[in-house]
Amino acid sequence: MIRTVPTAPIDGQKPGTSGLRKKTRVFMAPGYLENFVQSIWNAIGGVSGKTLVLGGDGRFFNDRAAQVIAKMAAASGAARVIVGQNALLSTPAASNLIRLRGADGGIILSASHNPGGEAEDFGVKYNGANGGPAPEAITERIFAETRALQEYRILDIADCDLATPGEARLGDMVVEVVDPVADYRALMEKLFDFKAIRALLESGFQLRFDAMHAVTGPYARAILEGALGAAPGSVVNAVPLPDFGGGHPDPNPVWARDLMDTMFAADAPDFGAASDGDGDRNMIVGRGVYVTPSDSLAVLAANAHLAPGYTRGLTGVARSMPTSAAVDRVAAARGFDCFATPTGWKFFGNLLDAGRATLCGEESAGTGSDHVREKDGLWAVLLWLNILAARRESVAGIMAAHWAEFGRNYYSRHDYEALDTAIATALMEDLRARLPDLPGTDAAGLTVQSAEDFAYTDPVDGSVARAQGLQIGFEGGARLVLRLSGTGTEGATLRVYLERFAPGPDGLDDDPQAALAPVIAAAEALAGIAARTGRTAPDVIT
Ligand code: G1P
Ligand code: ZN
Repeated sequence: MIRTVPTAPIDGQKPGTSGLRKKTRVFMAPGYLENFVQSIWNAIGGVSGKTLVLGGDGRFFNDRAAQVIAKMAAASGAARVIVGQNALLSTPAASNLIRLRGADGGIILSASHNPGGEAEDFGVKYNGANGGPAPEAITERIFAETRALQEYRILDIADCDLATPGEARLGDMVVEVVDPVADYRALMEKLFDFKAIRALLESGFQLRFDAMHAVTGPYARAILEGALGAAPGSVVNAVPLPDFGGGHPDPNPVWARDLMDTMFAADAPDFGAASDGDGDRNMIVGRGVYVTPSDSLAVLAANAHLAPGYTRGLTGVARSMPTSAAVDRVAAARGFDCFATPTGWKFFGNLLDAGRATLCGEESAGTGSDHVREKDGLWAVLLWLNILAARRESVAGIMAAHWAEFGRNYYSRHDYEALDTAIATALMEDLRARLPDLPGTDAAGLTVQSAEDFAYTDPVDGSVARAQGLQIGFEGGARLVLRLSGTGTEGATLRVYLERFAPGPDGLDDDPQAALAPVIAAAEALAGIAARTGRTAPDVIT
């Protein structure tokens, strides 16, 4: 029954910021998925006798890929695969299952916030026994295996039933199909004061959660409408679809336009939120106020102690380097550590495992804590609701009070998508080469204070990650970061991160793009984006 299939290495199977992402049709090509999965097995010392968690965000090809992976796990001797019903698991729920069940690792099928469908994107990610994305040392080993692969093993057997909860066998391996929501909901009940949130919702507080036709729909319905009593219909676009309804399941003001319009209308609900394809990202909006992910992280860090899971306070916080320093100010004021890591959740794993960080976040709408080893969209929404239930203030009121206490880090990210890879790489290389000469020079009226190619030494295991983004600091506290995306599937995406600090008490209510105009001009002066790329404006501003 075990078939050993001769194969040859396939170019480009290099995991990026978050697993391997390619066009769905690339993954569907003969042997493509199989090669990558066998390379994972080889890189982790095989799966013989191991227990793995398996599930994904439900995008096109999710069901087929799950069958292939289950058959490949069985062919390589895995003891058990725990699969979410219909092969569905949000990323944070998969992370929780790995930890809860003491599994050896897991495979998550997702391209996160990238569009789904036969002509869109697909992805495969390996998470380790701590529930977190494989660290660089392992992703590099996986890549090395893809370059040397000669054969893969798969079971020649009919598909297994992934629709019915319970245990079945696939060859000698047990396939255990579980409710994707139950364990995750139980974890949330432990962390948050559901009674207080329920009372808030019963007092007439209205919320709207946009699941963007992605995997969080069933989770949000069960928890927000089911366990917490939000009005039926509070969760919109709740049914996961293989193409996310044709949308772009990225919770930001551009792609969650409907929610923004609702929240800025005269009769807006009190609280709005959205999450992405695989449920690890979140967007928070109050009535008439959008909360940037960087600010959200800072507010959560300042108020987490109001939720039962965090009453002991935080040991530390961590943010990705491009994320604004708003949370640093909270950490300094409250006396806990603050770490700046490279972009990508995998860099938080060691800090969380070692108990050195309790909360982590990225400017790209990712927030999470030590409850799992992934960012967690619904968790962030529930922590916000818990804080709102405890403080009984509006989102706008909480933001105003936060800025008054800590000052405001104006922040925005400008993305230039699908650039010619050679042009984007040259832009970065040229600026990188000039970094040593920049301090003391003028950039459209701002004086450069520091300029570095960001490198990170992991404080736990000493591993070093280099070339993680160009970071330029200006006199007066403004900051500019440029890096190329590691998750795109078309050409190159240049991300320009802009930040300026306003200490207050005046100047806390400006329009962010206006407040950041000097930094935007400095970016153009330093990198020549328009001249080199021919683009006069970013494709996406968040
Ligand atoms: C993007 C985000 C990053 C996030 C990753 C996975 O990566 O910028 O913060 O961890 O998606 O969700 P990038 O495309 O910038 O490499
Ligand atoms: Zn995601």
